[in-house]
Amino acid sequence: MSGRLVQRPGPAADVVIRGARVLDPAAGIDHVGDLVVREGRIGGRPDGLEVIDGRGMVVVPGLVDVHVHLRVPGREDCEDIATGSRAAAAGGFVTVLAMPNTQPPIVDAAALAAYEQAAQARARCDYGLYLGAGPGNLGALAALAPRAAGLKLYLDSTFGDLKMDSLDLLIAHCAAWPADRPLLAHAEGNNLAAAILAAHLAGRAIHIAHVSRQAEIELIRAAKLKGFAVTCEVCPHHLFLTLKECGLPPGYIEVRPRLAAQADAEALWANLEFIDCFATDHAPHTRAEKAGPHPPPGYPGLETALALWLTAVHQGRLTLDDVVARMHTNPRRIFRLPEQPDTWVEVDPDQAWTPRGAALRSRAGWTPFEGWIVRGRVVGVTLRGRPAYAGENVLSPPGAGRNLHPAGLNR
Ligand code: NCD
Ligand code: ZN
Repeated sequence: MSGRLVQRPGPAADVVIRGARVLDPAAGIDHVGDLVVREGRIGGRPDGLEVIDGRGMVVVPGLVDVHVHLRVPGREDCEDIATGSRAAAAGGFVTVLAMPNTQPPIVDAAALAAYEQAAQARARCDYGLYLGAGPGNLGALAALAPRAAGLKLYLDSTFGDLKMDSLDLLIAHCAAWPADRPLLAHAEGNNLAAAILAAHLAGRAIHIAHVSRQAEIELIRAAKLKGFAVTCEVCPHHLFLTLKECGLPPGYIEVRPRLAAQADAEALWANLEFIDCFATDHAPHTRAEKAGPHPPPGYPGLETALALWLTAVHQGRLTLDDVVARMHTNPRRIFRLPEQPDTWVEVDPDQAWTPRGAALRSRAGWTPFEGWIVRGRVVGVTLRGRPAYAGENVLSPPGAGRNLHPAGLNR
């Protein structure tokens, strides 16, 4: 692939990308041909436009990450909405759904309003904001539901103070949160069985975050085969790293759910058909914290995820369609995200490169995949007809992103 345009902020340049594979499952498109971009829109007449050589390149729809931590408010030293969404754009994501375990957490109207304001002013890509369930907000959340990407239940310990211990509360939140709104859970081991059953008995869907172990994916598979409305995501680190082999120093190794055994990673690979989404769980903590006496759990992931999945495509473990289904089509369906017209990602699937923490756009400044050789690189991202990323530069300014509420429900 050659000849990528120099893009500037503003409308995307008029161009014909010649000979690229264009993949858009929602539109039933998968062909090699010309992609015409005129006045920031896909389509139109190619005459008179500059032609760039797109052979070997792939054009896919804008990617969605349903699980990121942007650390606003409270830990802007680790990440803020502008730096997290900058990392997202560089990683091929046009939408990130942000978790509520901030300081203070997003559990009430005042916190949500401040979070909305900060995101509106600072986000460089589109976003949704999750609310956190807790003991004090059972009665208040349903009224906030139209403004949220979903409700997160923390049933296991992790970073932040949102852990819920009581079965009563789990059942009550499953009943109180509107059934047509996304409900998601961090639920490991026995808590996973409890979450799936509680949601099922409440007659509603549930999405399980960062599944990491064999018994868990097998339980989800069994529930799906029984027709339960359960969906799930996995993160690259649980498929590409294991506790024994990862080589990460103490502190850096900490993540929740913890890295697991080879058999667990293999079970995830073997059950891909039951895995709906590839999320990152982008959990930026600085090197100083990871190397310190109380290392918080979590790995940054926005800038390495797509390349890792594309490397698996090269290895024959996945197809490109598998990746697009789990990073675009399924996330949009499960979280009922509205369409983003004239939004696409240009990828060079062959380009080999090496992730370096020091080169990340995330404030975290490190990666568990430091020094790996991965294959597949984002070359351009266009969001609603405007270049968000091109030529290694993030072009979308803070404030360019929109809050994507679940489609059709409140706007
Ligand atoms: C996340 C964080 O840092 O916010 N940490 C993690 O280890 N995954 C929280 C979470 O998703 O559990
Ligand atoms: Zn997380």
